[in-house]
Amino acid sequence: MIKIGIFGATGYAGYELVKILERHKSVKLAFVTSQSLAGQWLDELYPQAPHLLLIAGETAPLNEVDVVFLALPHAAAAQTAVAALNAGVRVIDLSADFRLKDVETYEKWYGVTHPAPELLETAVYGLTEFARSQLPDAQLVANPGCYPTSVLLALQPVLAAGLPLVGPLIADSKSGVSGAGRAPKQNTHFVTVADNFAPYKIGRTHRHLPEMEQGIAAWNAAAPPLIFSPHLLPVPRGILSTIYVPLAGSPDEAELRGLYEKTYANEPFIHLLPAGQLASLAHVIHSNRCAIALTLAGNTLILTAAIDNLVKGAAGQAVQNMNVMMQLDEEMGLV
Ligand SMILES: NC(=O)c1ccc[n+]([C@@H]2O[C@H](COP(=O)([O-])OP(=O)(O)OC[C@H]3O[C@@H](n4cnc5c(N)ncnc54)[C@H](OP(=O)(O)O)[C@@H]3O)[C@@H](O)[C@H]2O)c1
Repeated sequence: MIKIGIFGATGYAGYELVKILERHKSVKLAFVTSQSLAGQWLDELYPQAPHLLLIAGETAPLNEVDVVFLALPHAAAAQTAVAALNAGVRVIDLSADFRLKDVETYEKWYGVTHPAPELLETAVYGLTEFARSQLPDAQLVANPGCYPTSVLLALQPVLAAGLPLVGPLIADSKSGVSGAGRAPKQNTHFVTVADNFAPYKIGRTHRHLPEMEQGIAAWNAAAPPLIFSPHLLPVPRGILSTIYVPLAGSPDEAELRGLYEKTYANEPFIHLLPAGQLASLAHVIHSNRCAIALTLAGNTLILTAAIDNLVKGAAGQAVQNMNVMMQLDEEMGLV
Protein backbone atom coordinates (compact mmCIF):
# COMPACT_ATOMS: atom_id res chain seq x y z
CA MET A 1 0.00 0.00 0.00
CA ILE A 2 1.22 3.49 -0.85
CA LYS A 3 0.72 5.88 2.06
CA ILE A 4 -0.66 9.27 1.07
CA GLY A 5 -1.15 12.69 2.63
CA ILE A 6 -3.37 15.42 1.18
CA PHE A 7 -2.62 19.04 2.02
CA GLY A 8 -5.66 21.25 1.46
CA ALA A 9 -8.27 18.47 1.57
CA THR A 10 -11.07 20.95 2.33
CA GLY A 11 -10.61 22.78 -0.97
CA TYR A 12 -12.43 21.79 -4.14
CA ALA A 13 -9.38 20.11 -5.69
CA GLY A 14 -8.33 18.51 -2.39
CA TYR A 15 -11.76 17.05 -1.71
CA GLU A 16 -11.83 15.64 -5.24
CA LEU A 17 -8.52 13.94 -4.41
CA VAL A 18 -10.06 12.44 -1.26
CA LYS A 19 -12.93 11.01 -3.32
CA ILE A 20 -10.62 9.45 -5.91
CA LEU A 21 -8.06 8.11 -3.44
CA GLU A 22 -10.72 6.61 -1.16
CA ARG A 23 -11.65 4.22 -3.98
CA HIS A 24 -8.07 3.60 -5.15
CA LYS A 25 -7.09 0.01 -4.35
CA SER A 26 -3.34 0.58 -3.82
CA VAL A 27 -3.26 3.59 -1.50
CA LYS A 28 -4.05 4.37 2.09
CA LEU A 29 -4.90 7.90 3.19
CA ALA A 30 -2.68 8.71 6.19
CA PHE A 31 -3.68 12.35 6.76
CA VAL A 32 -5.71 15.23 5.37
CA THR A 33 -5.05 18.88 6.25
CA SER A 34 -6.90 22.16 6.46
CA GLN A 35 -5.65 25.61 7.33
CA SER A 36 -8.74 26.93 9.14
CA LEU A 37 -10.72 23.78 10.04
CA ALA A 38 -8.05 21.69 11.80
CA GLY A 39 -9.64 19.62 14.57
CA GLN A 40 -12.93 19.29 12.66
CA TRP A 41 -14.04 16.37 10.50
CA LEU A 42 -14.14 16.47 6.71
CA ASP A 43 -17.77 15.29 6.67
CA GLU A 44 -18.76 18.33 8.76
CA LEU A 45 -17.87 20.40 5.68
CA TYR A 46 -18.90 17.94 2.93
CA PRO A 47 -21.71 15.65 4.21
CA GLN A 48 -20.85 12.90 1.70
CA ALA A 49 -17.16 12.84 2.65
CA PRO A 50 -15.53 10.04 4.63
CA HIS A 51 -15.19 10.65 8.38
CA LEU A 52 -11.58 11.95 8.35
CA LEU A 53 -10.03 14.20 10.99
CA LEU A 54 -8.59 17.40 9.56
CA ILE A 55 -5.17 18.32 10.93
CA ALA A 56 -3.05 21.45 10.56
CA GLY A 57 -0.46 21.27 7.79
CA GLU A 58 2.39 22.05 10.21
CA THR A 59 1.57 18.95 12.27
CA ALA A 60 1.30 16.54 9.34
CA PRO A 61 3.34 13.35 10.00
CA LEU A 62 5.51 13.40 6.88
CA ASN A 63 7.49 10.42 8.17
CA GLU A 64 4.37 8.25 7.73
CA VAL A 65 3.78 8.80 4.01
CA ASP A 66 5.34 8.00 0.63
CA VAL A 67 3.58 10.66 -1.47
CA VAL A 68 1.82 13.94 -0.72
CA PHE A 69 -0.59 15.89 -2.87
CA LEU A 70 -0.55 19.65 -2.42
CA ALA A 71 -3.94 21.23 -3.15
CA LEU A 72 -2.89 24.55 -1.62
CA PRO A 73 -2.67 28.12 -2.91
CA HIS A 74 0.55 29.03 -4.71
CA ALA A 75 3.54 29.93 -2.46
CA ALA A 76 2.05 27.94 0.47
CA ALA A 77 2.40 24.89 -1.78
CA ALA A 78 6.09 25.50 -2.52
CA GLN A 79 6.90 25.86 1.19
CA THR A 80 5.14 22.58 1.93
CA ALA A 81 6.89 20.92 -1.01
CA VAL A 82 10.29 21.81 0.46
CA ALA A 83 9.37 20.28 3.84
CA ALA A 84 8.04 17.12 2.20
CA LEU A 85 11.02 16.66 -0.12
CA ASN A 86 13.41 17.19 2.80
CA ALA A 87 11.56 14.39 4.61
CA GLY A 88 12.10 12.11 1.59
CA VAL A 89 8.46 12.26 0.47
CA ARG A 90 7.51 12.52 -3.21
CA VAL A 91 5.33 15.50 -4.08
CA ILE A 92 2.53 16.10 -6.57
CA ASP A 93 1.72 19.80 -6.49
CA LEU A 94 -1.59 20.98 -7.92
CA SER A 95 -0.67 24.66 -7.55
CA ALA A 96 1.20 26.76 -10.09
CA ASP A 97 4.41 26.91 -8.05
CA PHE A 98 6.52 24.54 -10.15
CA ARG A 99 4.83 24.73 -13.56
CA LEU A 100 6.81 27.63 -15.01
CA LYS A 101 10.48 26.94 -15.62
CA ASP A 102 11.48 30.60 -15.58
CA VAL A 103 11.47 32.10 -12.08
CA GLU A 104 11.11 35.68 -13.34
CA THR A 105 8.01 34.75 -15.32
CA TYR A 106 6.55 33.09 -12.20
CA GLU A 107 7.28 36.08 -9.99
CA LYS A 108 5.87 38.55 -12.53
CA TRP A 109 2.60 36.65 -13.02
CA TYR A 110 2.06 35.46 -9.44
CA GLY A 111 3.33 38.58 -7.67
CA VAL A 112 5.39 36.72 -5.05
CA THR A 113 9.03 35.79 -4.61
CA HIS A 114 9.36 32.10 -5.42
CA PRO A 115 9.93 30.20 -2.16
CA ALA A 116 12.05 27.45 -3.77
CA PRO A 117 13.37 28.43 -7.23
CA GLU A 118 16.11 25.80 -7.01
CA LEU A 119 13.43 23.11 -7.48
CA LEU A 120 12.09 24.47 -10.78
CA GLU A 121 14.65 22.72 -12.94
CA THR A 122 13.96 19.20 -11.70
CA ALA A 123 10.16 19.52 -11.32
CA VAL A 124 8.38 17.43 -13.97
CA TYR A 125 5.48 19.18 -15.73
CA GLY A 126 2.83 16.50 -15.35
CA LEU A 127 0.72 16.66 -18.48
CA THR A 128 0.64 12.89 -18.14
CA GLU A 129 0.25 11.96 -21.80
CA PHE A 130 3.54 13.74 -22.58
CA ALA A 131 5.42 13.17 -19.30
CA ARG A 132 5.30 9.39 -18.90
CA SER A 133 8.99 8.76 -19.40
CA GLN A 134 9.96 11.33 -16.72
CA LEU A 135 7.39 10.45 -14.05
CA PRO A 136 8.79 7.18 -12.61
CA ASP A 137 11.93 9.01 -11.37
CA ALA A 138 10.23 12.28 -10.41
CA GLN A 139 10.42 13.50 -6.83
CA LEU A 140 8.35 16.62 -7.60
CA VAL A 141 5.55 16.82 -10.15
CA ALA A 142 3.93 20.10 -11.19
CA ASN A 143 0.36 19.18 -12.06
CA PRO A 144 -0.84 21.36 -14.98
CA GLY A 145 -3.45 24.08 -14.65
CA CYS A 146 -7.00 23.36 -15.68
CA TYR A 147 -7.27 25.65 -18.72
CA PRO A 148 -3.77 24.65 -19.93
CA THR A 149 -4.70 20.95 -19.74
CA SER A 150 -7.61 21.45 -22.13
CA VAL A 151 -5.73 23.76 -24.50
CA LEU A 152 -2.38 21.92 -24.59
CA LEU A 153 -3.89 18.45 -25.07
CA ALA A 154 -5.93 19.81 -27.98
CA LEU A 155 -3.02 21.64 -29.61
CA GLN A 156 -0.18 19.14 -29.17
CA PRO A 157 -0.65 16.99 -32.32
CA VAL A 158 -1.01 19.89 -34.75
CA LEU A 159 1.82 21.88 -33.13
CA ALA A 160 4.26 18.98 -32.86
CA ALA A 161 3.64 18.14 -36.55
CA GLY A 162 5.27 21.47 -37.41
CA LEU A 163 2.62 22.52 -39.94
CA PRO A 164 3.04 26.18 -40.95
CA LEU A 165 0.63 28.49 -39.11
CA VAL A 166 -0.44 31.84 -40.49
CA GLY A 167 -2.06 33.74 -37.65
CA PRO A 168 -2.49 33.84 -33.92
CA LEU A 169 -3.76 30.81 -32.08
CA ILE A 170 -6.99 31.70 -30.29
CA ALA A 171 -8.25 29.78 -27.24
CA ASP A 172 -11.75 30.82 -26.25
CA SER A 173 -12.36 28.95 -22.99
CA LYS A 174 -15.26 28.63 -20.57
CA SER A 175 -14.99 27.34 -17.01
CA GLY A 176 -17.43 26.34 -14.29
CA VAL A 177 -17.27 28.21 -10.99
CA SER A 178 -15.35 25.59 -8.97
CA GLY A 179 -12.27 26.66 -10.94
CA ALA A 180 -12.06 29.66 -8.61
CA GLY A 181 -11.81 27.58 -5.40
CA ARG A 182 -14.05 27.29 -2.33
CA ALA A 183 -13.59 30.72 -0.76
CA PRO A 184 -16.58 32.92 -1.71
CA LYS A 185 -15.82 35.99 -3.80
CA GLN A 186 -17.96 38.74 -5.27
CA ASN A 187 -17.43 37.57 -8.86
CA THR A 188 -18.25 33.93 -8.04
CA HIS A 189 -21.26 34.67 -5.82
CA PHE A 190 -24.37 32.73 -6.89
CA VAL A 191 -26.29 35.92 -7.61
CA THR A 192 -23.49 37.23 -9.83
CA VAL A 193 -22.98 33.99 -11.72
CA ALA A 194 -26.46 32.49 -12.08
CA ASP A 195 -28.23 33.46 -15.31
CA ASN A 196 -25.05 35.16 -16.46
CA PHE A 197 -22.15 34.39 -18.79
CA ALA A 198 -19.16 36.70 -18.81
CA PRO A 199 -15.56 36.92 -19.97
CA TYR A 200 -12.84 37.76 -17.46
CA LYS A 201 -9.09 38.39 -17.54
CA ILE A 202 -8.91 38.52 -21.34
CA GLY A 203 -5.97 40.11 -23.17
CA ARG A 204 -2.79 38.75 -21.54
CA THR A 205 -3.96 38.98 -17.94
CA HIS A 206 -4.86 35.40 -16.95
CA ARG A 207 -2.10 33.52 -15.06
CA HIS A 208 -2.54 30.40 -17.16
CA LEU A 209 -1.33 32.23 -20.29
CA PRO A 210 2.44 31.88 -19.62
CA GLU A 211 1.96 28.21 -18.79
CA MET A 212 0.26 27.63 -22.14
CA GLU A 213 2.92 29.69 -23.95
CA GLN A 214 5.65 27.57 -22.34
CA GLY A 215 3.98 24.35 -23.50
CA ILE A 216 3.35 25.63 -27.01
CA ALA A 217 6.97 26.83 -27.42
CA ALA A 218 8.28 23.43 -26.31
CA TRP A 219 6.42 21.72 -29.14
CA ASN A 220 6.76 24.35 -31.84
CA ALA A 221 9.22 27.18 -31.39
CA ALA A 222 7.83 28.89 -34.51
CA ALA A 223 4.22 28.92 -33.31
CA PRO A 224 2.43 32.28 -33.53
CA PRO A 225 1.23 34.04 -30.36
CA LEU A 226 -1.67 32.70 -28.34
CA ILE A 227 -4.72 34.82 -27.57
CA PHE A 228 -6.54 33.42 -24.53
CA SER A 229 -10.05 34.51 -23.57
CA PRO A 230 -11.48 32.82 -20.46
CA HIS A 231 -15.17 33.02 -19.53
CA LEU A 232 -17.13 32.09 -16.41
CA LEU A 233 -19.97 29.66 -17.00
CA PRO A 234 -22.90 29.41 -14.54
CA VAL A 235 -22.24 25.71 -13.85
CA PRO A 236 -20.32 24.14 -10.92
CA ARG A 237 -17.64 22.34 -12.92
CA GLY A 238 -16.22 21.73 -16.40
CA ILE A 239 -14.10 23.52 -19.00
CA LEU A 240 -14.80 23.82 -22.69
CA SER A 241 -12.09 25.36 -24.87
CA THR A 242 -12.72 26.26 -28.49
CA ILE A 243 -9.36 26.76 -30.17
CA TYR A 244 -8.73 28.29 -33.59
CA VAL A 245 -5.58 27.24 -35.47
CA PRO A 246 -5.09 29.06 -38.81
CA LEU A 247 -3.01 26.86 -41.12
CA ALA A 248 -1.12 27.84 -44.27
CA GLY A 249 -2.23 26.49 -47.67
CA SER A 250 -5.15 24.10 -48.03
CA PRO A 251 -5.13 21.76 -45.05
CA ASP A 252 -6.68 18.33 -45.45
CA GLU A 253 -9.13 17.30 -42.74
CA ALA A 254 -8.36 13.57 -43.06
CA GLU A 255 -4.63 14.24 -42.65
CA LEU A 256 -5.24 16.40 -39.59
CA ARG A 257 -7.49 13.76 -38.09
CA GLY A 258 -4.78 11.16 -38.79
CA LEU A 259 -2.31 13.20 -36.70
CA TYR A 260 -4.70 13.15 -33.74
CA GLU A 261 -5.54 9.46 -34.16
CA LYS A 262 -1.85 8.58 -34.23
CA THR A 263 -0.99 10.67 -31.16
CA TYR A 264 -3.92 9.54 -29.05
CA ALA A 265 -4.57 5.99 -30.32
CA ASN A 266 -3.63 4.29 -27.04
CA GLU A 267 -4.54 7.01 -24.57
CA PRO A 268 -7.09 5.79 -22.04
CA PHE A 269 -8.23 9.28 -21.07
CA ILE A 270 -8.25 11.06 -24.44
CA HIS A 271 -11.61 10.70 -26.14
CA LEU A 272 -11.15 11.73 -29.76
CA LEU A 273 -14.61 12.31 -31.14
CA PRO A 274 -15.63 11.10 -34.61
CA ALA A 275 -16.02 13.55 -37.49
CA GLY A 276 -19.16 15.63 -37.15
CA GLN A 277 -19.23 15.54 -33.33
CA LEU A 278 -18.17 18.36 -31.01
CA ALA A 279 -16.78 18.17 -27.48
CA SER A 280 -19.11 19.21 -24.67
CA LEU A 281 -19.11 19.22 -20.87
CA ALA A 282 -21.49 16.26 -20.91
CA HIS A 283 -18.71 14.12 -22.45
CA VAL A 284 -16.42 14.58 -19.44
CA ILE A 285 -18.06 15.76 -16.20
CA HIS A 286 -16.96 13.67 -13.17
CA SER A 287 -14.48 11.77 -15.36
CA ASN A 288 -10.75 12.00 -16.05
CA ARG A 289 -11.40 12.21 -19.78
CA CYS A 290 -10.45 14.96 -22.17
CA ALA A 291 -12.82 15.00 -25.17
CA ILE A 292 -11.35 16.51 -28.33
CA ALA A 293 -13.07 17.18 -31.65
CA LEU A 294 -11.76 18.58 -34.92
CA THR A 295 -13.58 20.75 -37.46
CA LEU A 296 -12.02 22.39 -40.51
CA ALA A 297 -13.41 25.74 -41.65
CA GLY A 298 -11.49 26.93 -44.72
CA ASN A 299 -7.86 26.87 -43.59
CA THR A 300 -8.70 27.17 -39.89
CA LEU A 301 -8.69 24.07 -37.73
CA ILE A 302 -11.25 24.51 -34.95
CA LEU A 303 -10.61 22.27 -31.97
CA THR A 304 -13.14 21.79 -29.21
CA ALA A 305 -11.74 20.28 -26.01
CA ALA A 306 -13.64 19.52 -22.81
CA ILE A 307 -12.43 18.40 -19.37
CA ASP A 308 -13.74 18.38 -15.83
CA ASN A 309 -11.56 21.05 -14.22
CA LEU A 310 -11.52 19.21 -10.88
CA VAL A 311 -10.69 15.81 -12.39
CA LYS A 312 -8.53 15.84 -15.55
CA GLY A 313 -7.82 19.52 -14.78
CA ALA A 314 -6.67 18.82 -11.19
CA ALA A 315 -7.18 15.77 -8.92
CA GLY A 316 -7.72 13.12 -11.60
CA GLN A 317 -4.61 14.06 -13.55
CA ALA A 318 -2.68 14.22 -10.24
CA VAL A 319 -3.70 10.62 -9.45
CA GLN A 320 -2.92 9.59 -13.05
CA ASN A 321 0.56 11.07 -12.49
CA MET A 322 0.92 9.21 -9.19
CA ASN A 323 -0.06 5.94 -10.86
CA VAL A 324 2.67 6.40 -13.47
CA MET A 325 5.22 7.53 -10.85
CA MET A 326 4.53 4.46 -8.71
CA GLN A 327 4.35 2.17 -11.77
CA LEU A 328 0.73 1.20 -11.10
CA ASP A 329 -1.98 0.71 -13.69
CA GLU A 330 -2.48 4.27 -14.98
CA GLU A 331 -6.26 3.99 -14.75
CA MET A 332 -6.41 2.88 -11.10
CA GLY A 333 -8.96 4.89 -9.10
CA LEU A 334 -9.97 6.81 -12.21
CA VAL A 335 -12.46 4.53 -13.97
N1 LIG B 1 -10.24 24.52 -8.56
C1 LIG B 1 -9.70 24.07 -9.69
O1 LIG B 1 -10.41 23.80 -10.69
C2 LIG B 1 -8.21 23.84 -9.79
C3 LIG B 1 -7.72 23.19 -10.93
C4 LIG B 1 -6.34 22.98 -11.06
C5 LIG B 1 -5.48 23.44 -10.07
N2 LIG B 1 -5.99 24.10 -8.98
C6 LIG B 1 -5.03 24.57 -7.97
O2 LIG B 1 -5.12 23.71 -6.84
C7 LIG B 1 -4.90 24.47 -5.66
C8 LIG B 1 -6.15 24.32 -4.76
O3 LIG B 1 -7.24 24.87 -5.49
P1 LIG B 1 -8.73 24.82 -4.94
O4 LIG B 1 -9.58 25.37 -6.02
O5 LIG B 1 -9.03 23.48 -4.38
O6 LIG B 1 -8.62 25.89 -3.74
P2 LIG B 1 -9.58 26.09 -2.48
O7 LIG B 1 -10.89 25.47 -2.73
O8 LIG B 1 -9.51 27.54 -2.18
O9 LIG B 1 -8.83 25.27 -1.33
C9 LIG B 1 -7.58 25.68 -0.82
C10 LIG B 1 -7.12 24.71 0.26
O10 LIG B 1 -5.89 25.19 0.79
C11 LIG B 1 -6.04 25.50 2.19
N3 LIG B 1 -5.31 26.76 2.44
C12 LIG B 1 -5.67 28.01 2.08
N4 LIG B 1 -4.70 28.89 2.38
C13 LIG B 1 -3.71 28.18 2.94
C14 LIG B 1 -2.42 28.51 3.46
N5 LIG B 1 -1.97 29.76 3.45
N6 LIG B 1 -1.66 27.52 3.97
C15 LIG B 1 -2.09 26.25 3.99
N7 LIG B 1 -3.30 25.87 3.50
C16 LIG B 1 -4.09 26.82 2.98
C17 LIG B 1 -7.51 25.63 2.43
O11 LIG B 1 -7.79 25.29 3.79
P3 LIG B 1 -9.13 25.76 4.57
O12 LIG B 1 -10.03 26.39 3.57
O13 LIG B 1 -9.67 24.48 5.14
O14 LIG B 1 -8.65 26.71 5.61
C18 LIG B 1 -8.08 24.60 1.45
O15 LIG B 1 -7.97 23.31 1.99
C19 LIG B 1 -4.64 25.92 -6.09
O16 LIG B 1 -3.27 26.15 -6.16
C20 LIG B 1 -5.28 25.96 -7.47
O17 LIG B 1 -4.69 26.93 -8.29
C21 LIG B 1 -7.33 24.29 -8.81
